[in-house]
Amino acid sequence: MQGAAFFQLSLLCILKTGTASKGWSMHVPSEVTGEIGKSVSLHCTFTHPHQTYDKTLTAIWRVKEPYNGTVVFKCVAHSSSNLCKTTVSLKNRYRLLGNPRQNNISLQIDNLSWNDSNRYFCRVEFSGDLHDKFESRTGIRLHLIAAPRIVNISVQAGEDHSFHAKCTAEGEPLPTLTWAGPLSSNITSVSSMSYQVTKELRHLTHDGRYTCTAINSLGRADGAVYFYKYKAGSGSWILVLLFVALGIKLLALLVILGIGAFWKGVPFLRLQEIQFQSESAQD
Ligand SMILES: *[C@@H]1O[C@H](CO)[C@@H](O)[C@H](O)[C@H]1NC(C)=O
Ligand SMILES: *[C@@H]1O[C@H](CO)[C@@H](O)[C@H](O)[C@H]1NC(C)=O
Ligand SMILES: *[C@@H]1O[C@H](CO)[C@@H](O)[C@H](O)[C@H]1NC(C)=O
Ligand SMILES: *[C@@H]1O[C@H](CO)[C@@H](O)[C@H](O)[C@H]1NC(C)=O
Ligand SMILES: *[C@@H]1O[C@H](CO)[C@@H](O)[C@H](O)[C@H]1NC(C)=O
Ligand SMILES: *[C@@H]1O[C@H](CO)[C@@H](O)[C@H](O)[C@H]1NC(C)=O
Repeated sequence: MQGAAFFQLSLLCILKTGTASKGWSMHVPSEVTGEIGKSVSLHCTFTHPHQTYDKTLTAIWRVKEPYNGTVVFKCVAHSSSNLCKTTVSLKNRYRLLGNPRQNNISLQIDNLSWNDSNRYFCRVEFSGDLHDKFESRTGIRLHLIAAPRIVNISVQAGEDHSFHAKCTAEGEPLPTLTWAGPLSSNITSVSSMSYQVTKELRHLTHDGRYTCTAINSLGRADGAVYFYKYKAGSGSWILVLLFVALGIKLLALLVILGIGAFWKGVPFLRLQEIQFQSESAQD
């Protein structure tokens, strides 16, 4: 199962590149694709000029630049051992997949996050009387993809005392955001930054549920806010009640809570109103 998942999520590895010097060569894909939260494998195999080699061997992986970049993984296989003992594995997320005695120092990275977007360089070192080493110069570019996720959704009061609904989602490819709801709110603005995009629905006029949908080629995500205006007494106070829901499940829970609160004589709703009132008073 591990293996199947593993192949599925990785490797749009297309071009193989080789570099050689004095009988050494390294073979790595130029680009690999991995999905946020999953694992990816970076393949690296090498050839060396020596007839046989059964002394201590060290495998190293760096990020960012060859020779100088931060070492994220290192393991040492002592004389003729097949076992490569890990001595460096940043945050414990890197492990060797290949068998270095079979000229394979492929690496697996677990639980990918956006920070893993980088270039990776593999290196092998022979020690003992041979003292020889080689590192790939080209590196593997790790491209990250992710199904959409709603990062934040909220209603805020603008300077002109009108209300705006704001939805931020992340994903790669960058998701397309759509607002739906009791319409006639007319203006939207969109801004995006690397893998995040924000869309704002301005001048909310109608009460009700506003839904934000984020879609990219890998999937979709929804979130919703409830916007209610109350005109109290003489009408000068506007109270807004909003439920913020990240994702459908939480949303459903809040709807149930909300209905429950209605039936129980509304202590829950009153609390929300008071909170908002005190926030407005600061303005
Ligand atoms: C490695 O880093 C040092 C200091 O950061 C720099 O002086 C040197 O030129 C770098 N070497 C290479 C090969 O990039
Ligand atoms: C290197 O090892 C990995 C993991 O075991 C394997 O998937 C890959 O096919 C190996 N590469 C070669 C060229 O044998
Ligand atoms: C994966 O990484 C995220 C942070 O990027 C962390 O919150 C989460 O606990 C990690 N999951 C596992 C299973 O290590
Ligand atoms: C990603 O990098 C940023 C800045 O370098 C850091 O603040 C953040 O904690 C990192 N996130 C993870 C999941 O490693
Ligand atoms: C969501 O956005 C609102 C408005 O920009 C902000 O006040 C709030 O802190 C954000 N919440 C999170 C979890 O980022
Ligand atoms: C958009 O809505 C605002 C506030 O309701 C209104 O003043 C403005 O005329 C509307 N603009 C358009 C193009 O409908």
